Amino acid sequence: MKKIMILCLFAIFTVQINAKDDLAVKVFKGYCWGCHHQTAQAFGPSFKKIANVRKKDEIIAQITDPKDTYKILGYKRNSMPAFDDLNASQLNAIVAYILSFKDKK
Ligand code: HEC
Repeated sequence: MKKIMILCLFAIFTVQINAKDDLAVKVFKGYCWGCHHQTAQAFGPSFKKIANVRKKDEIIAQITDPKDTYKILGYKRNSMPAFDDLNASQLNAIVAYILSFKDKK
């Protein structure tokens, strides 16, 4: 009985982790992939590059309000549209996804 309960808990936990990843991948493919790739430079910088130089707050600022953020991040021009209609879960998921590409030290 105990074993079954532990198995169930494990299953629920795993499903939740996967749901979170799915959400991030959905946002990535739906909104970002045209201009950003995970590890390769595209029209915009790769998530790997971003993860290695930016903090969570900077990433959120650029996603939701690039017009007020691109200069702070050192860009001369802003070619990224604002994604201010993402909800909190979508935003958290995509930021965590970007930061997951940070190099391990
Ligand atoms: C139309 C192309 C385009 C789309 C779509 C796009 N970006 Fe960007 N992104 C850019 C460009 C170009 C830059 C460089 C700065 C600028 O233009 O404002 C950039 C910059 C960024 C930066 C800051 C880079 C740095 O130096 O730290 C982040 C973070 C970012 N994008 C995240 C996202 C996320 C997340 C999505 C999807 C929700 C997304 N972008 C969608 C083009 C795009």
